[in-house]
Amino acid sequence: MKTHPKTPGFGTIAIHAGQEADAATGAIMTPIYQTSTFVQTSPAVHKGYDYSRAGNPTRSALEKNLAALEGGKYCSAFASGMGAIDAVAKLLRSGDHVVAGNDLYGGTYRIFVRIFEQFGLSFDFIDMSDLENVRRAVRPETRMVWIETPTNPLLRIADIRKTTEIARKAAAISVVDNTFATPYLQRPLELGADVVVHSATKYIGGHSDVILGAAITNDMNLAEQLQFIQKSSGAVPGPFDCFLALRGIKTLHLRMDRHCSNAKAVADFLSHHPKVKTVNYPGLEGHPGSNIARKQMKGFGGMVSFTLKNYRVRSAKRLTTLTKVFSLAESLGGVESLIEHPASMTHSSLPRKVRINSGLEDTLIRLSVGVEDVSDLIDDLAQALSRIDR
Ligand SMILES: Cc1ncc(COP(=O)(O)O)c(C=O)c1O
Repeated sequence: MKTHPKTPGFGTIAIHAGQEADAATGAIMTPIYQTSTFVQTSPAVHKGYDYSRAGNPTRSALEKNLAALEGGKYCSAFASGMGAIDAVAKLLRSGDHVVAGNDLYGGTYRIFVRIFEQFGLSFDFIDMSDLENVRRAVRPETRMVWIETPTNPLLRIADIRKTTEIARKAAAISVVDNTFATPYLQRPLELGADVVVHSATKYIGGHSDVILGAAITNDMNLAEQLQFIQKSSGAVPGPFDCFLALRGIKTLHLRMDRHCSNAKAVADFLSHHPKVKTVNYPGLEGHPGSNIARKQMKGFGGMVSFTLKNYRVRSAKRLTTLTKVFSLAESLGGVESLIEHPASMTHSSLPRKVRINSGLEDTLIRLSVGVEDVSDLIDDLAQALSRIDR
């Protein structure tokens, strides 16, 4: 009987994919090839690398690793998540239309509206948790459908399989920003997406010490275009940053399990707290996207957002200054817990009217639940909430 080799598990891929012992020395960790150029034996004859903007061995190791984690064939790494988003938007041409979620990372909204609209792209921002909205928004000139799920910061859920089906029928490229979920919890390419983008600054790096992005695909044509844009526009990550991301990825699966269990406990605590009005976490019973999340995700992630019953912006802002274990800072996905006020921080680039229309209230507080001891996180939130007016 023929036996098929077993596919390695996620943890094994995270630790080994794209990373072989260094051929020159046997170093088990991928060396940091901190070089701009590579010596050639005769003109255009080299060992696969000629200039580090076009390619670098540390970056190649990271790109292979990220592609493997997402179940994709190709990956291009970028100097930031925004660098990746910029490159993916450059797959489009003037006159093309994009359907995107209305609860997106503020920087994604900003680059679409303030930069790409100038170059003749047009955008519709809709609530993607309702597929009817997607069907209605698609037009003959729609060439891209941009999905963020879970969304930032309202943790809404879009059905990746059904939304990408609508995109495919319209001959539009479907893109999923998988930053919140990571490939450990959700693999959009397997659900029909054409491209996955990441702010690897977040859970993938995992230690708040690197800014990095990536775009992953199984489509050779899109991959070639992305590589061309990467080389031509030049938003490439440095080798040291690639090394840091590779090191972070080795524990991605372990960290994500803890992020998920801590976030669920924090969401449960908040949802029973007398001063808390609403809690957004896809793992909570009653979350409108919970059933789809259960189908397409392995866990619900480490992000939680909530509002206070007293409904005062002043109280919401004050709460973010009262925690001691949760640090008041932008970003997310690191091992340490963070608290922030989206309306004045991560999402301040969205005009207020757009924010309010999409459901992002001025009183919303967002938590990136880290991997500390969960009882310390809950005690910290309890003491901060006890100092807020009812
Ligand atoms: C969902 C999401 N996508 C993209 C980005 C942009 O990534 P970067 O900050 O690495 O440029 C962010 C940043 O917060 C994000 O939260």
